[in-house]
Amino acid sequence: MSVTVRVPAKVNVQLAVGAARPDGFHDLANVFLAVGLYDEVTVTAADGLRVTCAGPDAGQVPLDRTNLAARAALVLAERYGRDADVHIHIAKDIPVAGGMAGGSADGAGALLACDALWGTGASREELLDICAELGSDVPFSLVGGAALGTGRGERLTELEVGGTFHWVFAMASRGLSTPAVFREFDRLGEGREIPEPVASRELLDALAKGDVDALAAAVPDSNDLQPAALSLFPELADTLAAGRAAGALATLVSGSGPTTAFLARDAEAADVIAGSLRASGTCRTVRRAAGPAPGATVL
Ligand code: C5P
Repeated sequence: MSVTVRVPAKVNVQLAVGAARPDGFHDLANVFLAVGLYDEVTVTAADGLRVTCAGPDAGQVPLDRTNLAARAALVLAERYGRDADVHIHIAKDIPVAGGMAGGSADGAGALLACDALWGTGASREELLDICAELGSDVPFSLVGGAALGTGRGERLTELEVGGTFHWVFAMASRGLSTPAVFREFDRLGEGREIPEPVASRELLDALAKGDVDALAAAVPDSNDLQPAALSLFPELADTLAAGRAAGALATLVSGSGPTTAFLARDAEAADVIAGSLRASGTCRTVRRAAGPAPGATVL
């Protein structure tokens, strides 16, 4: 028997970052929007734990126990006193190391899939609790839609979204490590007072109304990690400029990057922006996706 779970990517429409905490993490006000780019995680009973991956970026995915999908299976198995004898196959469409929560999606997907395969019957709260243990962005991959993440991003409040937003994503020629981007944020902020992270009222209202112009007005400078990502990867400025020139209403680095995100007025405008970005030669691949998208779903 096999179970397949489909899990969305995310873009952070706002990422307000506070000062480093004693545990090294940063308090966040993280406005997540799930978008319709998906990984599919299939679990099948096996003799031991094994992870395989297919897709354009599959070569960059670790197949050992550092993979969040493997860790999810191990944590769930341990909690329920069983062996994690399962083959996890990831059909990967979310860019790897791109700031779109691809690894987190696989963790949430494997957790939900193993829960169904093993009939553990874990409650939603318990699954969310395990997700938070796996990583700051993993609970959102389970929940999907749109949510405000506080704490280190794992404490979620679901948000209303009054419409569909069309995005174009440009994948960069190499990845960026999330810890390295946070370290660069700390370095750039040295000697400065870092304010408490708060969600922007304008941005939350724009999402609630489904108002693309209001969202476009609220997005610039909404990602506190953007200067750090640009500092480590200066060529991203060229991609942002190319998207702006192609008519994007707003441009931003997605999360810790290096994927860049472009807000389009509608699906047609997204097509035009995607075409221009492809032709610009400033990125590796270009994808279109709309949000909000549903969270992890058993197929
Ligand atoms: O929680 P997760 O494992 O996804 O975090 C990866 C890394 O990103 C952490 O080790 C930390 O360096 C950084 N991080 C952070 N503050 C957060 C979330 C992540 O500093 N709120």
